[in-house]
Amino acid sequence: MSLKTYFLQVKEVVQETADSVTIYFWHPLSEQIKYKAGQFITIIVPAGEGGKKVRRSYSMSTSPHSDTAIGVTVKRVEGGLVSNYLNDNVKIGDFLEVLEPLGNFFLEPDADATRHIVLFAAGSGITPMMSIAKSVLKMELNSRVTLIYGNRSEDSIIFKQKLEELEAQYGKRLGVHHLLSNSSDLWVGHKGRISQGIAIRLLKEADTDFDKDNFYLCGPVGMMEDIIAALGIYNVSKERIHKENFHTVMVEGETEETDDSLQTQTVKVKYNGDEYEFEVKPHQTILEAALDLNIDLPYSCQAGMCTACMGTCTEGKVKMDEEDGLTEKELKRGVMLTCVAHPITKGVVIEID
Ligand SMILES: Cc1cc2nc3c(=O)[nH]c(=O)nc-3n(C[C@H](O)[C@H](O)[C@H](O)COP(=O)(O)OP(=O)(O)OC[C@H]3O[C@@H](n4cnc5c(N)ncnc54)[C@H](O)[C@@H]3O)c2cc1C
Ligand code: FES
Repeated sequence: MSLKTYFLQVKEVVQETADSVTIYFWHPLSEQIKYKAGQFITIIVPAGEGGKKVRRSYSMSTSPHSDTAIGVTVKRVEGGLVSNYLNDNVKIGDFLEVLEPLGNFFLEPDADATRHIVLFAAGSGITPMMSIAKSVLKMELNSRVTLIYGNRSEDSIIFKQKLEELEAQYGKRLGVHHLLSNSSDLWVGHKGRISQGIAIRLLKEADTDFDKDNFYLCGPVGMMEDIIAALGIYNVSKERIHKENFHTVMVEGETEETDDSLQTQTVKVKYNGDEYEFEVKPHQTILEAALDLNIDLPYSCQAGMCTACMGTCTEGKVKMDEEDGLTEKELKRGVMLTCVAHPITKGVVIEID
């Protein structure tokens, strides 16, 4: 899958909290970049060792329906290459290399709809929710939005003021419930993490119709699992639960684990008329092993979401950390995503179109 690359000029940089910035880009002169509320772009910057280019995905926090610029909000990750690079270096007028918007986590507003959209976010997981909330509030005059947003402390809440402004603008059509896990004594709002119990209580307070409403989740895996379990109690169907993983393996406070059953295997990848044979170690995905050897395979999100790294396993077997990005039909045909796949047998051969 070949993706369109843009060089976007930075229009504005806004410090949101001590450890997060929003970077606004001008659209290119030649075209208006199209995206859906909830989707992400991939930014490529020379943040690696010796200026090596590294790419990471960032969801738009702007709305395609109410914002003229495209904006992403980046929160620092301790020791993280790209999040710190973007927070420290980007200034107005810079050009950044960006891959076209992608992602299956989106909401397309419907002006005729009358519905209740429920958004759960934690930390930087607010970014796609901001885009979705602004889009629904602007485009669906009969719909309402509830946002349940977890953070550590008052000063780590990204978009606190913007959310207050939206509440003032849209009145009862927007309900924002903040939860803080480490609040000061002055905090009068909800305390603690978003757990099953709190999720159910807040959903009931927000007059949620569990038979009808749609739920959007973005935050640590543990939080999303808790919310899905809570929704399961009310038999909410899978189709009405939409989730975005910013990081496939990490949960706040957890470390990355290697599956003990994996062994170093040699795989063969056929791409663009070339054949590459290389070793994949147990802690690596097939894409990571290729990139370490400077083998230029296609990819974008590196999280099993966008399918930019899709290939077909024609011999041997692979195992994926995350299968949500593919349909059951594709999985049966041997379609796989190199960014989340590990070889589990000898003689794995992958063909990439
Ligand atoms: C579809 C998608 C959309 C995303 N949207 C946003 C967004 O809008 N805003 C945003 O700030 N980030 C977003 N991310 C996360 C972003 O892509 C990067 O993963 C993040 O900025 C860390 O990159 P890094 O290069 O700084 O850290 P790395 O150098 O990749 O990692 C450094 C260390 O931090 C750990 N780590 C990596 N990512 C995280 C994380 N998210 N939380 C905790 N630990 C982590 C790694 O395991 C490693 O130990 C998104 C990710 C995806 C897949
Ligand atoms: S790079 Fe996006 S799914 Fe693999």
